[in-house]
Amino acid sequence: MIGWHWTEFGYEDPGGSAASWRADLLATLQRDRVPLALVALDGPKPVGSAELIEHDLDSRRDLSPWLAGVYVAPAYRRAGLGRRLVRTIEGRAADLGFSCLFCFTEDAAEFYVAIGWQRYAEAVLQGRAVTILRRELSPSARGSSRVGRVEPEWPPGADGTANAE
Ligand SMILES: CC(C)(COP(=O)(O)OP(=O)(O)OC[C@H]1O[C@@H](n2cnc3c(N)ncnc32)[C@H](O)[C@@H]1OP(=O)(O)O)[C@@H](O)C(=O)NCCC(=O)NCCS
Repeated sequence: MIGWHWTEFGYEDPGGSAASWRADLLATLQRDRVPLALVALDGPKPVGSAELIEHDLDSRRDLSPWLAGVYVAPAYRRAGLGRRLVRTIEGRAADLGFSCLFCFTEDAAEFYVAIGWQRYAEAVLQGRAVTILRRELSPSARGSSRVGRVEPEWPPGADGTANAE
């Protein structure tokens, strides 16, 4: 997971390192408070991740909390796993009493729009344009973070979403 995150998102943190990102990720290994992280598993193999964190963009510390670290391993993409990871984080955020969530992305805004998020603002991070998106959380999202619902085709034989621990 650290390798994915560092390779995919490391540009956001020029002063950071894989080691510092590892330490930050370890701090998210909890279930019921922010920050928290989820890992999707195919058997023992991690195949996706998502996090719920307090702040993600220094220039927008007025916004909180944030969905971050959304990543699906290339061989597992376009099968609904990214959506499930995001929905699980949305449900967890609703369970924690939040009424909305934010995320930012350099080039995956269409993915978030496809799963019900709305474009909220533009920003610049390390000289790169990024889009901030917002998701309204209805009270009905509560409880949707519970594991145990299995879609027949994905993943085979297990729910596949677990806390990163
Ligand atoms: C973006 C990412 C998480 C999507 O994961 P995924 O498992 O392939 O997404 P899903 O299969 O759940 O797709 C959900 C919907 O989004 C759409 N979608 C998925 N990836 C998309 C993309 N890159 N651009 C536009 N739409 C996309 C799908 O078509 C689907 O829409 P539909 O239900 O109308 O068919 C994955 O491609 C990834 O990890 N990319 C690299 C890291 C990244 O960009 N992370 C997010 C930004 S911070």
